[in-house]
Amino acid sequence: MTSAPTSNKLLLDWVEDVKSMCRPDSVYWCDGSDAEFQTMAQTMVDCGTAMWLSPEKRPNSLYIRSDPADVARVEDRTFICSENEADAGPTNHWKDPEEMKEILRGFYEGCMQGRTLYVIPYSMGPVGSPIAKIGFEITDSPYVVCNMHIMARVGSKVLEVLGDSDDFVRGIHSVGHPLTEPKQADLAWPCNAENKYITHYPETREIWSFGSGYGGNALLGKKCHALRIASVQAKDEGWMAEHMLILKLTSPESEVKYVAAAFPSACGKTNLAMMTPTLPGWKVETIGDDIAWMKFGEDGRLYAINPEAGFFGVAPGTSMESNPNALKSVSSNAIFTNCALTKDGDIWWEDMGVEAEELTDWLSRPWTPDCGRTAAHPNARFTARASQCPVIADEWEDPAGVPISAILFGGRRASAQPLITEALDWEHGTFMGAMMASEKTAAAAGVVGELRRDPMAMLPFCGYHMGDYFAHWIKMGEKGGDKMPKIFYVNWFRKSDDGRWLWPGFGENSRVLKWVFERCEGTAEAVPNALGLTAAPGSLDVENLDMLPEDLEELLSVDKALWLSEMPSIREHLAKFGDRLPAALLKQADALEARLKDA
Ligand code: OXD
Ligand code: MN
Repeated sequence: MTSAPTSNKLLLDWVEDVKSMCRPDSVYWCDGSDAEFQTMAQTMVDCGTAMWLSPEKRPNSLYIRSDPADVARVEDRTFICSENEADAGPTNHWKDPEEMKEILRGFYEGCMQGRTLYVIPYSMGPVGSPIAKIGFEITDSPYVVCNMHIMARVGSKVLEVLGDSDDFVRGIHSVGHPLTEPKQADLAWPCNAENKYITHYPETREIWSFGSGYGGNALLGKKCHALRIASVQAKDEGWMAEHMLILKLTSPESEVKYVAAAFPSACGKTNLAMMTPTLPGWKVETIGDDIAWMKFGEDGRLYAINPEAGFFGVAPGTSMESNPNALKSVSSNAIFTNCALTKDGDIWWEDMGVEAEELTDWLSRPWTPDCGRTAAHPNARFTARASQCPVIADEWEDPAGVPISAILFGGRRASAQPLITEALDWEHGTFMGAMMASEKTAAAAGVVGELRRDPMAMLPFCGYHMGDYFAHWIKMGEKGGDKMPKIFYVNWFRKSDDGRWLWPGFGENSRVLKWVFERCEGTAEAVPNALGLTAAPGSLDVENLDMLPEDLEELLSVDKALWLSEMPSIREHLAKFGDRLPAALLKQADALEARLKDA
C-alpha cells in the first residue's frame, strides 16, 4: 500500500522523518497479505537475490545466498545505547545514544536511494492480546519483509489494534547500499559489511540497524525487540523476556507439564522443542523454539508465551533423525538462506541424512562430497511458519500463555557438566544460570569451540546491566515463592576421556524430561552432590538404552577437582558485574566452593 493506512500522528511523523533522512524512491506500507509475500518474493527473484525452489520438491519456497561477509549476528557491532553507560553493563558494547545516532544519521542519510522504504507493522505475540507488544520496522530489504511475514504477525490488523497509541517500538533498518546512479545494477545481496551497526535505545524503545541484511541483525522483531528491548520492559514491568524454548510434555497418563529451556544459540533448542520422545507413551509438543515471555498469572504461577510466529532455525544437522518435525515444517512456504542447492532445485545441508552427489554450494560453486569443503554455511538457516510444525501445540497462540513447571539451563560442554543437575532452590538456580558456560558455535561471528560464559543464554541479548538482570531474576523468585518453576541444568554433550559421546541425545533426551516431570510431581528421587541434586540411582529411566553402567555413572558424576580448578574463572566472571552483582550470587559461589571442598 503506498498511502499510509493509519492516522496515528506519531507513527506518521516518525515514518516521515525516516523518509526525509533515508530518501527512498517510494514508501510502501505492508499489509501482511499472501499477495504481498508473493510480490516481495518475486521482487527478490527478479533482482537476483532469491530463486524459487522446485515447486514439486518444495512449494512456495525461496532459496537465498547472502554475501559471505554477512552470515551471522555481529556481537562486536551490537550496542546498547542507554542514557547512562553503567546501565549497559560490562557485557554490552555501549555508546552515548546521541553520539551513536549522530554517527548513524551520517550513514542513513540518503541510504535508501533507488530503493523502496517498507513499513512493517508487527505484533510480537497474538495480535490484540494483552501480553503482545507492537513494533514497526522500517526497512529497505524485501528479504526482511518476507522473513518478518513468517516470524511475526504482520500487517493492517496490527495498525487497527494500535489506533492512536504511542506504545510501539520503532525500528529502522537499512542494508546500507543506496543505488545512486540512474539504472545502477543492484547486488544480489546488498549490504555494507564494513559499517554494520545493530543499536538499541532502551529508554526510548528504539532500534537502529545498519549494514547487515542477515537474521538477528535485520529481523528486528526477534533478538532486537523481543529480547534486548523487551528484557528492559520486563525488568521495568515485573516480567521476564528470555532466550528460551517452550515445550509441552505429556505423560502416558495424559498429565501435562510445560517446560522452558535456555541454551545458547545453535545448541539444540529447536531440536528439543520439537523432539520425538523414544520413551513409549510420552509426547512433546512445541509452543516456541527461541524466545519466551513469562508473566505471573492470577494464580501466582509463571505463564509463558512465544512472541514469535515462526522458526529461524540452524539448518545443518537438521535431519529426519535429529529433528523430523523441523524438516516437515520446511516442506513448503519456507525460506532457506546459505544452504546448498541440488541439481533438481531443492536444498541440502550437512548432516541432513541425505546423500549428495553434485551440488551448488552456498557460494554458488560446484560441490562434490570429496571437494573438502562444506556445501552449506554452518550457520545456514531455514525460516518456517510455526503453524506448519506437525507437533505445534494447540495452545501455542493462547494469549494467557502456559504455566511453566520447570526451567532448564544448558550448553555444550565436553567435560565437567553432568547430564542433569537440579537446583536446590530458585536462588541457587539463578546462580546456575548465571554461571552457564558453553563451547562457541557458528551462530555468532568468532572462534568456534572456545568456552564462553553465557548467563541464561542471554549474553548477546540482555538489553541492560547483567548484574541488574540477575537481581531481577532473584526478585521474581521472591515474588513467586514456592510457585516458581523448578530449575535444572542439563548437558547432552559430555564426552568420555577417550572422546566418545556419553549420551545419545535427541529423542533419548525424553528420559531426562521424564525425570524432570517426575521431580515436579514429587515422584522421582534425587540425591545431593556438590553441584546441587542429581538423579538417584535407578530414578533416571534408562530402560532399553544400550548404555554401559559406568558411562551413566560418569555422566552423572561431578569431578570436584576439575570444578575447584574452575572456581577462579567463576569468581572472575562474577566480579565483572561489580557492585551490581546481587550478594546472593556471591553467597552461592561460596556455598559451591564449600561443597566442592567437602570431602
Ligand atoms: C538465533 C540465535 O538465531 O540465537 O536464534 O542466534
Ligand atoms: Mn536464539
